[in-house]
Amino acid sequence: MENLQVKEPIAYEKIPTRIYQDPKQASKSVAVEIAALIRSKAKAGQNCVLGLATGSSPKTVYAELIRMHREEGLSFKNVISFNLDEYYPMEPDAVQSYWRFMKEQLFDHVDIPKENYFIPDGTLPQELVADFCKEYERKIDNLGGLDFQLLGIGGNGHIGFNEPGSLINSKTRLMMLDHSTRAAATMDFGGELPKVPKKAITMGVSKILSAKRVVLLAWGERKAGVIAEAVEGSVTEHNPSSYLQTHPNALFIVDNAAATELKRVKTPWLVEDVDWSGPMVKKAVTSLSLSLQKPILKLTNKDYNDNGLSDLLARHGQAYEINIDVFNQLQHTITGWPGGKPNADDSNRPERAQPDKKRCIIFSPHPDDDIISMGGTFQRLVDQGHEVHVAYQTSGNIAVADDEALRFIDFVVDYNQQFGISSPQAEVIFENAKKFLQNKKDSELDSEDVRYVKGIIRRGEAKATCRFVGIPVENAHFLNMPFYETGTVQKAPIGERDVQIIVDLIEEIKPHQIYAAGDLADPHGTHKVCLDAIFAAVERVKHKDYMSDCWLWLYRGAWAEWGIHEIEMAVPMSPDQVLQKRFGIFKHQSQKDGVVFQGSDSREFWQRAEERNQGTAELYNKLGLAEYEAMEAFVRWKF
Ligand code: F6R
Repeated sequence: MENLQVKEPIAYEKIPTRIYQDPKQASKSVAVEIAALIRSKAKAGQNCVLGLATGSSPKTVYAELIRMHREEGLSFKNVISFNLDEYYPMEPDAVQSYWRFMKEQLFDHVDIPKENYFIPDGTLPQELVADFCKEYERKIDNLGGLDFQLLGIGGNGHIGFNEPGSLINSKTRLMMLDHSTRAAATMDFGGELPKVPKKAITMGVSKILSAKRVVLLAWGERKAGVIAEAVEGSVTEHNPSSYLQTHPNALFIVDNAAATELKRVKTPWLVEDVDWSGPMVKKAVTSLSLSLQKPILKLTNKDYNDNGLSDLLARHGQAYEINIDVFNQLQHTITGWPGGKPNADDSNRPERAQPDKKRCIIFSPHPDDDIISMGGTFQRLVDQGHEVHVAYQTSGNIAVADDEALRFIDFVVDYNQQFGISSPQAEVIFENAKKFLQNKKDSELDSEDVRYVKGIIRRGEAKATCRFVGIPVENAHFLNMPFYETGTVQKAPIGERDVQIIVDLIEEIKPHQIYAAGDLADPHGTHKVCLDAIFAAVERVKHKDYMSDCWLWLYRGAWAEWGIHEIEMAVPMSPDQVLQKRFGIFKHQSQKDGVVFQGSDSREFWQRAEERNQGTAELYNKLGLAEYEAMEAFVRWKF
């Protein structure tokens, strides 16, 4: 189950790092290590002193530990734990408190004695915090120090809440949180940045480094840059996780997505012998061209030899041959005919010419991903006469601001009054919603009415986009997948109903093309669940006759783009088409001008989409291909 690339040490890497297929497998290995430590300490009649983290990363580790407790008799009676941090100020029973997090995610489900776990106290008056912190460290010291410290990592490299600038010898203390840390936490605070505390109490770097063993977890693409810096860069206070290079027994456990910026993944030929079959050549040559800022067709034998690619050169003889081959591969990915060009030779095109009119389903996890991520392609498919359906997988109702919901309910009441429609029910809904929203607490779930209203606001916007692009409204399918409808950022796991809904739609349309969001960097994981549901559905229907003529294309969401070497279809856009797409995105008014789940990127969705599509076009151009205004990119998923 472990990735095979574990011959340590690995060139350029200054912290042992293990890469796993996914967080679940990775978490299992961490849980196994922790369990072994707890058991060996218990056998020796000793306590096991653990340093624990909160956040999304360790959840799967805690879940596995709970399973081991239930099914394998793992006891926590000898465990004493110290959490890394707590927001300040923070009441222990608030939904965002780390106290509550730990109880819900671990302590309430295992047999750890109540007096054995410690979490910094977010309720103290400020003048008592310094003493509290000293005492916190003293307690750890009196127990002989931390046997094991579990860490996550912030997008800015923080460990605990030791933000960039923290010194290697820093002690447990009250810390001002970085803007990026607060922005990343907005989701837990109803999407409102001002509600995120400005401070936190955190265990200091020196205490973390004094642990006998430190394991840091990182999942997802958004951690990839900071992981590579920590593992391969120099030790710097700008990235506090890099201090772990000085620890004799630290380990980074990452999933494939968080490993993408490591040299062994990004430029493996610089690290070890590689298999030069197909995709690796394209990856190496595009990377060489971009790093030397030289178009592919101008790369020379010397360029290959000087940059760790002599091996590749030796196999193929001349740079010239390799250059032409990779250039042609890239050229063949570009098409203005995403549904295939009728009556054209399609041997070097990304899509089939036949049938010339295709049925297409665009799956859109949220009600705006279709237009944001592939609006140009959507428009072309429609303009070129294909039968295009859009399947909106979730209602997106948690991402609508409260006052927006109230405005729409108010509209209905006014509208009724104006046109003499007597609707006391509408007025009751309005009054109830008004009262509910005025008194709504930060952590409170929306009432069902309010959620429904928020959902129809987004549905209306999606329909407006469909009209704008030119598909009949019956071709917009609102799937309302049940996993999403928890009313909170936390979603239920994907279930049978979720998959069946997708199976039913595929059966009904019998598509020649399916487009799906292959985006793993979505901040709250909805895209990933939506994709898993599509894969599960396709698995169930793939043996059907019509599926042998169906191709699945993956696009990326608003957060990241495919690597240039991965792209199998690139659909160019003219300046006018870029503008047209922008207007399509504008139909999503509830997502404009400061959205509920902004994340740490302050750009609006249309800006992100344009910059990304322009970035892709620029890369093609830098590689020596034609200069386009913008491009949308796709990878084909073979099933
Ligand atoms: C949490 C903590 C933080 C998180 C980090 C990553 O106790 O100390 O350093 O580990 O912010 O958070 P996630 O795992 O949510 O990405």
